[in-house]
Amino acid sequence: MAASEAVLQVVCGSSSYDFHNVTSNKSKGFNTRKRSSVHVQAQISSRPFRASKGKHVFHGTNKLESLVCNCKRVESVNGDTNNNHEGAQSKLDKIQNSGSLDEIVTDSTQRGEAMGLDVAVKHNNGGFTSKDKLHIDGLSRDSLNKVSENSIEDEAWDLLRSSIVYYCNNPIGTIAANDPSSTVILNYDQVFIRDFVPSGIACLLKGEYDIVRNFILHTLQLQSWEKTMDCHSPGQGLMPASFKVRTILLDGDDAATEDVLDPDFGEAAIGRVAPVDSGLWWIILLRAYGKCTGDLSVQERVDVQTGIKMILKLCLADGFDMFPTLLVTDGSCMIDRRMGIHGHPLEIQALFYSALLCAREMLTPEDGSADLIRALNNRLVALSFHIREYYWIDMRKVNEIYRYKTEEYSYDAVNKFNIYPEQIPPWLVEFMPSKGGYLIGNLQPAHMDFRFFSLGNLWSIVSSLATAEQSHAILDLIEAKWAELVADMPFKICYPALDGQEWRIITGSDPKNTPWSYHNGGSWPTLLWQLTVACIKMNRADIASKAVQVAERRISKDKWPEYYDTKRARFIGKQARLFQTWSIAGYLVAKQLLANPDAAKFLTNEEDSELINALSCMISANPRRRKRGRKKQSFIV
Ligand code: GLC
Repeated sequence: MAASEAVLQVVCGSSSYDFHNVTSNKSKGFNTRKRSSVHVQAQISSRPFRASKGKHVFHGTNKLESLVCNCKRVESVNGDTNNNHEGAQSKLDKIQNSGSLDEIVTDSTQRGEAMGLDVAVKHNNGGFTSKDKLHIDGLSRDSLNKVSENSIEDEAWDLLRSSIVYYCNNPIGTIAANDPSSTVILNYDQVFIRDFVPSGIACLLKGEYDIVRNFILHTLQLQSWEKTMDCHSPGQGLMPASFKVRTILLDGDDAATEDVLDPDFGEAAIGRVAPVDSGLWWIILLRAYGKCTGDLSVQERVDVQTGIKMILKLCLADGFDMFPTLLVTDGSCMIDRRMGIHGHPLEIQALFYSALLCAREMLTPEDGSADLIRALNNRLVALSFHIREYYWIDMRKVNEIYRYKTEEYSYDAVNKFNIYPEQIPPWLVEFMPSKGGYLIGNLQPAHMDFRFFSLGNLWSIVSSLATAEQSHAILDLIEAKWAELVADMPFKICYPALDGQEWRIITGSDPKNTPWSYHNGGSWPTLLWQLTVACIKMNRADIASKAVQVAERRISKDKWPEYYDTKRARFIGKQARLFQTWSIAGYLVAKQLLANPDAAKFLTNEEDSELINALSCMISANPRRRKRGRKKQSFIV
């Protein structure tokens, strides 16, 4: 096995799988984690559905501790995938062929019950349903026609369960989409880090902790560990965009298979984009896990602490950039293809800020980390000042920009970034309500991207990157612009769409990102959960409830699409996957949180007083504010 391939190998068919031992190499300082696959061998019994050799022992207080793992991989011998759909389909085929229903049910039930989940079986829409749902299938047509809110929720749970991906028979994540009608799978059969976040939260809120814990610890194993100068390798600390569980046959033994975790850091992704958001989401989910379960042992582990620090170091590293915002390439987040969001896009900044706060909460004090914590604190203050001050626009600010003087050469210029007022787009004048405002999409020298990016704005509320006043104003704007941002399906990814020459230049004539489609003004149901957290945080849950009701009109009937097209979200996206897991999970999280708003605290960050003090000092020292009352002095070259 090439050095760049195998990181660790655990023969789970014959030995215990000990997370502590597996991961402790890192804490010992061994450089064993490279950017390659993680292998776990599963020695399989030759009898189908009957192997129970491996015993997975997870240290800690989780339910898997005593689970005897059934490494029943024989049904997927040809497949290189652990795709749940294929696995379950293959199982059903076997049921039909062998008639060994009891065996299958017992086997699956053991695994399902150990997780506290229902057992997935094939559903006639191509998705899967639980055994409880089978009962529902027996109901009369009349009662089926009464599509209640609850039945949508039940269906969503069934679909979420069926999207679970197993690694050595343990739940480890959820597949991005489980669309049986799709002929082109691309990488939608993988577990995406960002896509798993709502799935993980839905599980946490339901009391299903193991899958999240497994996800956190296994993705940690995939984190890029080796610092390399090779421009084709990810930098130290980078988390992959996605990973796939491959089940492969071992050479010379057709009864033995090996489970392989195969990460993608963007080197295979369309456009080769680096997933900057993955590590940030990982930190946010880790903190949510601790808050929700009360189990801090995961975040306190040495290897997890090291993982957090590696992400932080990567983000806090010095570069050529002068701003406290994180400088990234285009498509480094949920919008993972060219959309003119290179530079300092809001979404990354909001996640960065949130991850810094979460990390600060979780880092255990130790001698070596004082510098890192100092750097983190400095960055938090500078970042929130920068975003609140320079990204914020409302009617008053647009008017100020409209009258900006340009070409100011001075330390205390008012128009610091030399924004030419001609940049104010005509749509903004219509879009900006008299009450409300938002954070712009991006800020660069002589460039303000005035587009409204939803995730960045919502997460700025959630993380307290925006002030309380700004947060309310963003929600005011959402209410005022309901027809533009929600319309027939929540929630528009950004507003407005790029069109014409602008679309040609900025997207590179991307046929997937045509106006009002996909990332270019498409509507993404997954954003419901972030909207809900933001609304609950600001005590305005009614806005989220209304959006959920809008979604419920169509989302299940439309088979849980990935996104919707057109200005008012009237069509299912042209290339949208159906049964997209994060559309399902996003809806579920929204429902769970609306039913139990207190749980939103697992995800929100409150501003601390130290930060507020530091900020008010900076704001009072800011020339833009200071100068409002005095004569303007500018230096023109
Ligand atoms: C698309 C989305 C990306 C998502 C992936 C998997 O590429 O742009 O945000 O993670 O699909 O669902």
